[in-house]
Amino acid sequence: MKPQIASIPEPEARTREFEFNDADFQALRTLVKQMTGINLAESKRELVYGRVSRRLRALNLTSFGAYRQLLQSGDGSELVAFCNALTTNLTAFFRESHHFDYLRDEVLTPLREAGRRRDRIRIWSSACSSGEEPYSIAMTIAETIPDWAQWDIKILATDLDSDILARAQRGRYAADRLRGMDPGRVGKFFKEIKEGGETSYQITPEFERLITFKQINLMHDLPMTGPLNVIFCRNVIIYFDKETQRELFTRIARLQRPSHLLFLGHSETLFKVSDEYSLIGKTIYRRC
Ligand SMILES: C[S@@+](CC[C@H](N)C(=O)[O-])C[C@H]1O[C@@H](n2cnc3c(N)ncnc32)[C@H](O)[C@@H]1O
Repeated sequence: MKPQIASIPEPEARTREFEFNDADFQALRTLVKQMTGINLAESKRELVYGRVSRRLRALNLTSFGAYRQLLQSGDGSELVAFCNALTTNLTAFFRESHHFDYLRDEVLTPLREAGRRRDRIRIWSSACSSGEEPYSIAMTIAETIPDWAQWDIKILATDLDSDILARAQRGRYAADRLRGMDPGRVGKFFKEIKEGGETSYQITPEFERLITFKQINLMHDLPMTGPLNVIFCRNVIIYFDKETQRELFTRIARLQRPSHLLFLGHSETLFKVSDEYSLIGKTIYRRC
């Protein structure tokens, strides 16, 4: 018998489980902008529908209208769940690896060579997602300064999304997350765990002394006083409009002293955003 080829309906033509009109999309979009600074493009309609539908199901609600009412009633925990559902957490170990090379060659190696173990070094991973970024910083430190535990060096890892932050803190990764990582690194910093036929990798518990995880919304007042020698603010400001970015970097610049470093994501720039930094390399900025 000839196989039947099922036709795949266009998103618009697909029958939706919940009615989702323009007013729903605009209201949710406005709310997410207020809460997180994330500017969802028109093209994110399907993404919003898909992600928020999961919240409706979890809450046994039958319409987006009912969900909007719940959010408007100021239900704090649902507002957090709503933001968590819509923020994109994509990340990887040693993503944009030139930043880690720069950290090693221009910051950590000179410190080690000068034996400046009393210097206070603070590094902030400001949108750390599931932890790959701060653990990559930690591995870079451990590889460059083997006796780091005797140094005054600390990483602060923060994110808006409390669920992803809990995953980051747990530090356990499926085998595919480590694909491509140098086997020496895997052997040194991860413990292999076999459970129910699945293999996962647990980051070394030693890094608990190096990294502090904390929930921080970049749209709110930043609770730390600084100074922060290096800030990773990567692949998060793409969601913010220029005015929000300007306001954020005015606050971030106050946490850094001249010569301190700021790393942005590959498609991000401080052009027309801040003149308190100069561009010194590919998405690498120095505080003026
Ligand atoms: C794409 S991930 C970037 C992860 C990592 N920095 C990297 O470059 O691989 C973006 C992260 O930004 C977080 N985020 C979004 N809005 C935020 C805000 N207003 N404050 C803090 N974090 C936010 C999201 O929860 C998400 O984990």
